[in-house]
Amino acid sequence: MELPPRPKLFDFHGVSMTHYFTDNWENIQNFQARPDDILIATYPKAGTTWVSYILDLLYFGQTAPERQTSLPIYERVPFLESDFHILPPGTELADKLSTSPRLIKTHLPVQLVPKSFWEQNCRIVYVARNAKDNAVSYFHFDRMNKADPEPGDWNNFLQRFMDGKMVFGPWYDHVTGWWERKQTHSKLHYVFYEDMVEDTGRELDRLCSFLGLSPSAEEKERVRGGVQFDTMKKNSMANYSTVPIMDFKISPFMRKGKVGDWKNHFTVAQNEQFDEDYKKKMKNTTVQFRTVV
Ligand code: A3P
Repeated sequence: MELPPRPKLFDFHGVSMTHYFTDNWENIQNFQARPDDILIATYPKAGTTWVSYILDLLYFGQTAPERQTSLPIYERVPFLESDFHILPPGTELADKLSTSPRLIKTHLPVQLVPKSFWEQNCRIVYVARNAKDNAVSYFHFDRMNKADPEPGDWNNFLQRFMDGKMVFGPWYDHVTGWWERKQTHSKLHYVFYEDMVEDTGRELDRLCSFLGLSPSAEEKERVRGGVQFDTMKKNSMANYSTVPIMDFKISPFMRKGKVGDWKNHFTVAQNEQFDEDYKKKMKNTTVQFRTVV
């Protein structure tokens, strides 16, 4: 398949974007959410697929087992703002979903989310990942994902990350914007990737309590087993191996799944510069990420 050239970044309502996420903007803004929709919101590479898969198994693992072998995760959980031309746009996929609840994914910063999600008071699960690992994961993703701009070398990429010139804008604004919204939107569950790695079972319990679900111990164990990194990495319905715009020879989608991989990438100088800049950018927020030293 002949791939189109890598897209360019441009400013869109104050956020860096590529056309893949703005081409369908009118339909995105007018999207009609339903009260039982569940929105999975993240900055790219924070653990979106992991949480999507957890929710899918919790809701449909038992009632629709055929999904597990026939439907890739990106069709089960439409990516709202995407319009990649190799699949119908996310809004159309979401409109066609016959499941209840509908699980919908977005990377939009909080201020760009279609208003019907707030009007309908939908449940939202936001996943946040520490900035350094998030940047590393994004770098490797952009190397292999031909639908994002060229990442360049690591040093340039890291600079761009700090400057917020990334698809979906600055990490800093994203995680803090959603954190602030949590103070007024009570149906927002804010999860940290690091907590999920530390104790997936505990985070599953918290998630179920937020969703009002009470699976049996056996069912919970089944979900926990199904969403372990190694299991998901082998699962062609969860590992994105069916997507033609990604080159797994460069880097797999399920890459490492670890906390602290940034230490293998940041030089001492980069780390010092990053920390100093981080303090400034995050000085007005109460959101706390674990220090990964
Ligand atoms: P790495 O590149 O650090 O390995 P997203 O789904 O938001 O694109 O995030 C992808 C990141 O989440 C990748 O991080 C991927 O390996 C990690 N991930 C996906 N499933 C995971 C799991 N079950 N356990 C731990 N990490 C997981």
